[in-house]
Amino acid sequence: MPRPARILAISGSLREDSFNSALVRAARKLQPSTLDIEIFDGLRDIGPYDQDLDTPELRPAPVAELRRRIAEADGLLIATPEFNYGIPGVLKNALDWASTPGPGAHSPLHRKPAAIMGAAPTNFGSVRAQLALRQAFVWIDADLVVKPEVVVFRAHERFDETGNLTDPGTIDLVSGLLDALAAKTRCGAVTVVARLTARPGLEDRVRETALSLVDASRAEPGNLSYRTFADLTDPGSLVVVEEWESRAAFDAHLTSPHMAEAFAAGAALLTGPPVEHIIAS
Ligand SMILES: Cc1cc2nc3c(=O)[nH]c(=O)nc-3n(C[C@H](O)[C@H](O)[C@H](O)COP(=O)(O)O)c2cc1C
Repeated sequence: MPRPARILAISGSLREDSFNSALVRAARKLQPSTLDIEIFDGLRDIGPYDQDLDTPELRPAPVAELRRRIAEADGLLIATPEFNYGIPGVLKNALDWASTPGPGAHSPLHRKPAAIMGAAPTNFGSVRAQLALRQAFVWIDADLVVKPEVVVFRAHERFDETGNLTDPGTIDLVSGLLDALAAKTRCGAVTVVARLTARPGLEDRVRETALSLVDASRAEPGNLSYRTFADLTDPGSLVVVEEWESRAAFDAHLTSPHMAEAFAAGAALLTGPPVEHIIAS
């Protein structure tokens, strides 16, 4: 039986008695056995986004920690308040820090399964913030749960005075959202097959580059095997077959420093991006 999917949950509110933080805690209580939700509480420590500092060497420690925890998670759960019809600045700021590529070609949010919900004491609260968040996730290229939509309006009527979610309809919606997130989160081992086609005359360079990745990739956490094969029917092509213990381990591999170098070299050496098939085993 696969292990439960590790979900990083973020509330977009810093407020002590926040409805959104209460919603995240409710989700944790309601989690099915397929999920293991941990709550991120470092939002307050994340400074304003600064592109000059957005490099692996210069990123502030709280940002590096957020990016690491997202990369290691199998999925994300976000509860957003609505501030002035939009996403609260602290949440958008944190997502901006987590959205950029590096050290590999992809951001830690790339293809990450994610579910969003939101609470407000008003009648339409969180609807517009959730729409804006969905839009941000289009650029980020996360794998977003579309339904159910969990809009906890008139939130003060749905929690008790100690912040426990008591409204049966909302409990059902949150449970439905968690089931949909679990379905998106593949936690078994994955096999990845990539075909690399060399530009004419650069076949030897492609082979050397691919071989230099083998040992580094095998040494990464979660790698079960990493092999390259010559394609006997096409001397210009090389096939890489990798097995990773989880999708999250593979995604973390894509952001490793040696893969950053490989992606940079690949543009000059290959005729196109690798053709990749991910097979859940
Ligand atoms: C700066 C600010 C802007 C707000 N803008 C909206 C808004 O556009 N729509 C809305 O429904 N509520 C708005 N509210 C009210 C919030 O929905 C309410 O404060 C909510 O409880 C915040 O979420 P939290 O309980 O998780 O902290 C705003 C509140 C603040 C402080």
